[in-house]
Amino acid sequence: MATEQVKFLFKYRDVENYDDMEVYLKHEGYNALRKALTMDQEAIINEIKLSGLRGRGGAGFPTFIKWNGIPKNWDQPHYLVINADEGEPGTAKDRDLMNHMPHMLVEGCIIAAYAIRAKVCYIYVRGEYMQPARQVEKAIKQAYDKGFLGKNILGSGFDLDIHVHMGAGSYECGEETALMSSLMGERGMPRHKPPAAPLPVISGVWKSPTIVNNVETIATAVPIINVGGAEYGKYGTGTPGQGPASRGTKLVTVSGHVNKPGNIEIVLGTPIREIIDDICGGMKDGIPFKFMIPGGSSVPMLVEDALDTPYDYESLAKVGSALGSGALMIYNQTVSVPAMMTRLMHFYAHESCGKCTPCREGTSWLVKIHDRIMAGGGRYEDIDILSDICNNMMGRSFCPLADAAAWPLVGPSGTGGALKYFRHEYEELVRNGIGGRKRAFSPLQMAAV
Ligand SMILES: Cc1cc2nc3c(=O)[nH]c(=O)nc-3n(C[C@H](O)[C@H](O)[C@H](O)COP(=O)(O)O)c2cc1C
Ligand code: SF4
Repeated sequence: MATEQVKFLFKYRDVENYDDMEVYLKHEGYNALRKALTMDQEAIINEIKLSGLRGRGGAGFPTFIKWNGIPKNWDQPHYLVINADEGEPGTAKDRDLMNHMPHMLVEGCIIAAYAIRAKVCYIYVRGEYMQPARQVEKAIKQAYDKGFLGKNILGSGFDLDIHVHMGAGSYECGEETALMSSLMGERGMPRHKPPAAPLPVISGVWKSPTIVNNVETIATAVPIINVGGAEYGKYGTGTPGQGPASRGTKLVTVSGHVNKPGNIEIVLGTPIREIIDDICGGMKDGIPFKFMIPGGSSVPMLVEDALDTPYDYESLAKVGSALGSGALMIYNQTVSVPAMMTRLMHFYAHESCGKCTPCREGTSWLVKIHDRIMAGGGRYEDIDILSDICNNMMGRSFCPLADAAAWPLVGPSGTGGALKYFRHEYEELVRNGIGGRKRAFSPLQMAAV
């Protein structure tokens, strides 16, 4: 089957100066907003429902349900918050959107805010994303100048202000409740969830109803309103309205050992093998495939037998992984799995916010034991200890970061991951050390690393 290259988001991505208002306007720019302002709010949400759009930030929650969740007839302040934190290792598609097509994000924000009747929108941008933030700020300024933002937008009576808020480089602040705390100037730690506390849509920023959506989710509202929800929803897998379905297209950041890595737009359900071979030019230098992480580092790894899996929410869940943020990381046979896992464990230990013990302590021990193994001082029992630590983290922490740290090693059910598929690589390191440099560690040194 030939790979279907349908583009909704990236249709004009490569047009020169597409980040500029005048160029954007010449390429259907702000048409969706003009159309949306002639529709009533329920009709817009209905188009989103027809499209089958699910959140592109990781969890894949249906967007129309979220937007519908703002209490009806609520005339008090409420907020739209855009999650542009993009901290998930391997993911760079929101950065691309903000750098090259910031007006599509701004237009999407105005449509979404109009649909939920919010008068204030915050775009929370990852601290390291200085250039994308500048691009978005420039687009916002141009939108004010054209009357697309501010008071009485295009004579519709609708008012909206958008503020860009820079994060400070914490991965955990991408979790929506931690993000809201950070936005309010509090420490970026996650909040209680139902049943202990209401959802953000009831009590979010400043205890007011708040919708948090990913950059790509919001940008996708633009083509959906332009072409209509039914047309967008024609593509993908499953049947709209009949159970879970992955409709439309998805931006995927393909990285690692392929000939043409980068951000691509695929129709959901495109087999992974086709993404690698047809879109990304095959495996780099012809070196064979070893494993992949299909949805950002927080989802379980998959090996060769999963290469024909359709890239969609349901199919990836069926083979024990997830679509996550849409970061497809491909690794060839030259990669040492324990070395790669060591790097990943350092990331999670660094980013754990420290609120709960299994995560704070567990991630730290995963690092220490990996470092010891990599330094040539590993013991056979270390491999099972790694597995025990993971089992003690999964499902026992406050937010999904702890699970995300454990899954690469043991998989979601505790029976997959690097320790199963590549246990022999850990054993080899324990036996001989890296490059044959096996070291005898004293008990004191063991405790130190
Ligand atoms: C540790 C952690 C980090 C996250 N980081 C991001 C992020 O960088 N960007 C994002 O959109 N969602 C991130 N999420 C998911 C958000 O909590 C939330 O589900 C998302 O912003 C909802 O938007 P959506 O419905 O449009 O996907 C993260 C979740 C967790 C647990
Ligand atoms: S699981 Fe980790 S990151 Fe999440 S709240 Fe607990 S300590 Fe913080």
